[in-house]
Amino acid sequence: MNILGLSFGTVNGKSDLLVKEALYAAKEAAAAAGEHAEVHFVNTCKMNIGRCRGCGACSTMFERQGKDNDCIWKDDYQKVEEEVRWADAIVLGAPVYVLQPTGQFKDFVDRFACRHDASAINWTLDRRRKGEVPGNADDFPMERLKKRTVAYISVGGASTDNWTSMGTATLHLFGFPALMKVVGNYNANSMGTIGNPYLDETMMNDIHEIGRRTVAGYLDDAVGFYEPESKPAGVCPVCHQRLLTILPHTTKVECPICGIEGELSIEDGEIKVAFSEAQQARARGTFAGQREHTEEIQGFGAICGPKLMANKDFLDERMATRIKNFDEEIQKIK
Ligand SMILES: Cc1cc2nc3c(=O)[nH]c(=O)nc-3n(C[C@H](O)[C@H](O)[C@H](O)COP(=O)(O)O)c2cc1C
Repeated sequence: MNILGLSFGTVNGKSDLLVKEALYAAKEAAAAAGEHAEVHFVNTCKMNIGRCRGCGACSTMFERQGKDNDCIWKDDYQKVEEEVRWADAIVLGAPVYVLQPTGQFKDFVDRFACRHDASAINWTLDRRRKGEVPGNADDFPMERLKKRTVAYISVGGASTDNWTSMGTATLHLFGFPALMKVVGNYNANSMGTIGNPYLDETMMNDIHEIGRRTVAGYLDDAVGFYEPESKPAGVCPVCHQRLLTILPHTTKVECPICGIEGELSIEDGEIKVAFSEAQQARARGTFAGQREHTEEIQGFGAICGPKLMANKDFLDERMATRIKNFDEEIQKIK
């Protein structure tokens, strides 16, 4: 099997160290199971991974022209994408910069997510099979959506969870489009006081355990998510995060990562949230959850198209006078 370590931190920094330690445990787990494993480690820090420019070429080519959905902008993005496509088990580490993983991580995810969205891909392939759009459904390399496991490590300097509040949560955006099985996430905060992860035995043990699970969870469906005793448990039963969006004027909340609704209550002075089985089954990281969004997107044209056509002259005039000519127009306000 193929094991990938992906670090968005500085070269030989804390993220590198933790990802590499998890990889040792992953390879040992493979060896113990009699599996031959090849391991790649990639540090992206000095790579040039530009942002998604929103050009839409990937979806136009795929959905309307019978072509692949690859990104047309060529830089180091493709190298990392190829590594991820190659991998069966992934350990991903990223430092927290201003409460979230580094921007480079998000730039990668923006370009990776759409073209690995399992529902969106299957939607178009079904349309090809029915002859509704050009292209041969069998041409698409379905191994891009093969079974994968992933473990996330978020690395932060601050001693409180408070300053790494969106670290692990945001890392979950990497794997959900391709329906990767998440076997663990770890908030490796407090680096400013720990000094070096090798000096924190509990942290190293936890990191080894999530590394082990990337392989064990790949080989055995029964091996699930690791909740370390050393870290407070998550609230969402799907992504195990503790972030919640309050739905105004109700007792309902949503997990912002999974998009599922829960019922909030306070029992014995403790906040509890109950997420029904039905809600868990429609989490964003499930095919059903993605399909809701695919269907929503398909409906956009029917709603927007007539509105835009009916107001074409007005909108063209506004664009010409206020938006395209902005620098000149704004000067007229004295
Ligand atoms: C621009 C910048 C912003 C940072 N913001 C945070 C932060 O919001 N919270 C935090 O805990 N650490 C923050 N840090 C500290 C890093 O997360 C920490 O140094 C981490 O160990 C770096 O990972 P690396 O060693 O893998 O490069 C920040 C560091 C930099 C350079």
